[in-house]
Amino acid sequence: MNFALKTGKPARQGTDCAILPVFDDGVLRGATEEIDRSARGAIKQLVRVGDAAGRLGATTVVPRATGAARRWLLVGCGKHADFDARRLAVALGAAVAGLRGSGAREAVSYLAYGADSIGAEQAARQTVETTRAQLYRFEELKSRHEPPPKLARLGIGLPSGSDTRAARRGIQVGSAIANGADLARDLGNRPANVCTPSHLADTARALAKRFKKLEVKILSEPDMRRLGMGALLAVTRGADEPARVIVIRYRGAGAHVAPIAICGKGVTFDTGGISLKQPPKMDEMKFDMCGAGGVLGAMAAVGELEPECNVVAVIPACENMPGGDATRPGDIVTSMSGQTIEILNTDAEGRLILCDALTYARRFKPRCLLDVATLTGACVVALGHVYTGLFCNDEPLAGALRAAGERSLDPVWRLPLHDEYGDTLRSNFADFANSGTRDGGASVAANFLQRFVDGLPWAHLDIAGVAWRANVNKGATGRPVPLLVDFLLAAAAQ
Ligand code: BES
Ligand code: MN
Ligand code: ZN
Repeated sequence: MNFALKTGKPARQGTDCAILPVFDDGVLRGATEEIDRSARGAIKQLVRVGDAAGRLGATTVVPRATGAARRWLLVGCGKHADFDARRLAVALGAAVAGLRGSGAREAVSYLAYGADSIGAEQAARQTVETTRAQLYRFEELKSRHEPPPKLARLGIGLPSGSDTRAARRGIQVGSAIANGADLARDLGNRPANVCTPSHLADTARALAKRFKKLEVKILSEPDMRRLGMGALLAVTRGADEPARVIVIRYRGAGAHVAPIAICGKGVTFDTGGISLKQPPKMDEMKFDMCGAGGVLGAMAAVGELEPECNVVAVIPACENMPGGDATRPGDIVTSMSGQTIEILNTDAEGRLILCDALTYARRFKPRCLLDVATLTGACVVALGHVYTGLFCNDEPLAGALRAAGERSLDPVWRLPLHDEYGDTLRSNFADFANSGTRDGGASVAANFLQRFVDGLPWAHLDIAGVAWRANVNKGATGRPVPLLVDFLLAAAAQ
């Protein structure tokens, strides 16, 4: 898919399809008004008789448009005063979904033309990301493929005099984020018999081949044993599939610049282990590596964009399986940090692999430490499928992540850290247990992880509710790639 800026007069722009906004008050604005004027009020007429609705996401195709465009695709954008980047994405998503099945090979979107609240960079970036997300399909494991969309080129219509440098940067950043999100979606959608820990490691190696500033090291189980990663090893015990720790270094700044460290949970299948999960929807636990997928996607985007910063990714990857050698409830293990853990529930495995990854990541003396994980069902109950749960011990870091989430339309909502959430992790036999009460479960899990960060600025992102969609549109979303990339770009610009 190809994206290009179009800053000429909308009424003179030849195209297969002009994508034009319609607002719910029926007043024509921006490019819609300009084209309507040259078409002697034809669009106004359609709106007046109710053939084109302004409701957000409503689409109306006008096949034989007058003027330079072959078709008009009128797209409802809701209330004009409310129109922002998020509604732009909703409207454009609906437009592209409509165009996908049409014969149009090319189109120009005027949805951001003259939208003052959306800057040129933001408009271009969102147009690219939304279009790519809408066109994404996962068909590598189907023997019959849908015909590919004819749509191959999308113009981004902006008024003449717009900041074209910013818009071009928006296309570049949007494309890198879309590439990273596609990778995260592919990895998430692949079943656990394809997407194994070794598959994640191979993916990381391929990224290091493609991007010259990325470097990869893979730790095997003997390495983990030497390092004393007893918590991670306890999770992988029941699995035949070998575990991996994937370490990716991105060097975009001098060696003296402290890196940002990011850990991503890579449980390629979570059965719960001996604390076995219920059968309904257990297949969705192939998505339990979406933290890892998101981190790999973000590293791919960083490798492509080459911002001036250093990043190190640490991805613990394994399966959580029952078996004759599996960890039992009550088993006590020693983590890499030296702290002992009573594993009361083998289904609380994410925190066990992450705690050793966090300890390992501290070796790189990072300026801050992030982790990304499909960690708790409790976070899904709290925030649904809209916000990523953010837990953070540092106000500037929390602010930076919240701002990145808002800019990238990949938002986070802060949830509390408090020592008292740790009360329920008390153990009579080890330093603490891996699971406590279900109440406030997302904060209890965060309290567990906090015991391994030792005061470093740290943020935990619980993506259990946002990493995939269930039901008819079942599939990985590519979140939180936009959030992570935006955060890293902003950190580099500082
Ligand atoms: N991967 C799950 C969390 C999860 C569950 C994500 C459902 C998305 C949907 C995690 O490993 C898990 O099983 N967590 C348990 C923790 C509990 C045993 C303390 C949970 O949330 O129930
Ligand atoms: Mn689990
Ligand atoms: Zn899990």
